Amino acid sequence: MKKKILVFSALVFFVAACTKDKMPVLVELDNQLRNLVSASSPDGSLDFYILPDETDYENIPADPKNPLTAKKVELGKFMFYDTGLAQDALKPSGIGTYSCATCHIPEAGFKPGSFQGIADGGLGFGINGENRVRNTEYEESELDVQDARALSLVNVAYVTNTFWNGQFGAFGVNEGTEDVWENDEGTERNHLGFSGIETQNFEGLIAHRISINKPLLDSIGYTPMFDEVFADVPEEERYTVETASLAFSAYLRSIISNKAPFQNWLRGNEAALDYESKKGAILFFSKANCYTCHYNQNLGSPEFHALGVNDMYQQPSYSSEEDDFRNLGRGGFTLNEEDLYKFKVPGIYNNADSDFFFHGASVKKIEELVEYFNLAEPENSNVPLSQISKKFKPLNLTQEEKEHLVQFLKVGLRDPNLDRYRPSSVPSGLCFPNADPQSIIDLGCQ
Ligand code: HEC
Ligand code: HEC
Repeated sequence: MKKKILVFSALVFFVAACTKDKMPVLVELDNQLRNLVSASSPDGSLDFYILPDETDYENIPADPKNPLTAKKVELGKFMFYDTGLAQDALKPSGIGTYSCATCHIPEAGFKPGSFQGIADGGLGFGINGENRVRNTEYEESELDVQDARALSLVNVAYVTNTFWNGQFGAFGVNEGTEDVWENDEGTERNHLGFSGIETQNFEGLIAHRISINKPLLDSIGYTPMFDEVFADVPEEERYTVETASLAFSAYLRSIISNKAPFQNWLRGNEAALDYESKKGAILFFSKANCYTCHYNQNLGSPEFHALGVNDMYQQPSYSSEEDDFRNLGRGGFTLNEEDLYKFKVPGIYNNADSDFFFHGASVKKIEELVEYFNLAEPENSNVPLSQISKKFKPLNLTQEEKEHLVQFLKVGLRDPNLDRYRPSSVPSGLCFPNADPQSIIDLGCQ
C-alpha cells in the first residue's frame, strides 16, 4: 500500500513538474489553435464550430417543414432501433431481426461495425457490430446491402444534401439539378421540397424493408405517440412512411457530438483537449490541409472531391458491382462529366469509432487514412488524374505529426458518450438493434 502511495506521489510530482514546464508551451498552443480555427471558420469566429446541445432544438439545423420537438425526437429514437418494425423482410427468417441501427451503430460512430452493413439477411452482431455475416438462407442478391460504406449519422443535421453523391434534398447543392431528379434512385422525391435527410428517409424506410402501417403501429403500441406528435395531420395520413420519416429525421438531427474534447476546448476548457490532440488539431487546420475541405460545423462540407479511392466492388464484398452508379460519385447523379468520381466531404466526429473509411471502405485503419492523405497517391486507376482534387497533395508529415493527427481524430473529435442517443428499450420489447438468433446471444438479450 505504502509503495503505491509513494509511486502515486512521485507521479503527481512528475506530472505537476511536467505541466509546469509545458505551461508557456501550452498557452502558446492554445493561442495558435484558436487563431487557426478562427481563420478556417466560414464566418471568421471560433464559436462557429461550437455545436449546440442535443436538446437545444432552436439551434439545431432543421427542415422548416419538419420542426424539432422532444416528442418527435423520442418517437424517431424508438423506431430507429426497433426490430419490431422489420416486417418487410424478404424471407420469414429475416422478419423482426434488423433496424436502421443495424448499419448505424452508436458504438461504431453510427456506421456499421463491419466493412459493409447488412440489415435484412444478416446474422450476428459481435461486440460493436463487427461480426455480422450473411444468413445463408439469403442469396447475395437478396441481402439488404449497399455498394458503399455507410455514412456516419453523427452531426448529420449539418448535411443539407445526403448520400456520398449528395443526391437527396431539394436545396443546397441540388438547386439547379432538377432536370435529373426524375432519373430514378428515389430522387424524384426531391420535388416534395424537403431537406436531404427528410427526403432520403422517405426512400430509406422502403429500401431497408421497414414497415409502417396502422395495424402494426397499433400492435406495437406506437399509435398514441403518432397521435401526439402528428395531431395536426389528418388521421388518414397520420400513420404513414411520410410521417414516420419525419420522426426518424428529427431524431437523426439530434445526434450531436457536443461532448467531444475539441467541443469542450472550443467552449473555453483548455484542459479538455490533450497535448497530442492539440498538436494534431493545429496540423488539421494548417500544414495537413484538412481544413481546406473539412471546414463546416461537422468538419465536413458540401464540396465534392475525387481522392481516387477504391470502390467497394474492388474488394471482397456482397453483391457490389463495377457498373453501380455509386462508383461515379456526384457525376452518377448529375450526369455531368466534371462531377465524375467526386464524393462529398463527410463530417468526421467519432469517425474513428469503427474501422473502414471512404466511400468504398478501402482504407481499414485511421492511421492508414492519414497516410493516404499524406502521400496523396490515388489508388483507383479508373479515376482519371484530371479529376483528382487540386487540394489533394502530398503533405510531408513526420511520423510524430501523423500520430498527433490520429490522436486528434481518435480522441479530440470523439464524443465519448454517444450511448445517450440509444433508447434503454424499444416499444416492441424485442432485442435491438438486431434480433436474429446470433445477435440475441451477442447482445445478451436472452
Ligand atoms: C444495410 C445498411 C443500412 C441500413 C439498414 C440503413 N442505412 Fe443509412 N446508409 C447506409 C449507406 C451505405 C449509406 C450511404 C449510401 C450512399 O451514400 O450511397 C447510408 C446513408 C444514410 C444517410 C445519409 C447520411 C449523409 O451524411 O449523407 C442517412 C440520413 C441514413 N443513412 C439514415 C438511415 C435510416 C433512417 C435508416 C433506417 C430507415 C438507415 N439509414 C438504414 C446503410 C444503411
Ligand atoms: C480535397 C479535399 C479534402 C482534403 C484536403 C481532406 N479531405 Fe478528408 N475527405 C474528403 C473527401 C471527398 C472524403 C470522401 C472521399 C471518398 O470516400 O471518396 C474524405 C474522407 C475523409 C474521412 C473518412 C470519412 C468516412 O466516413 O469514411 C476522414 C476521417 C477524413 N477525410 C479526414 C481528413 C483529414 C484528417 C484530412 C487532412 C489530413 C483530410 N481529410 C483532408 C476530402 C478532403
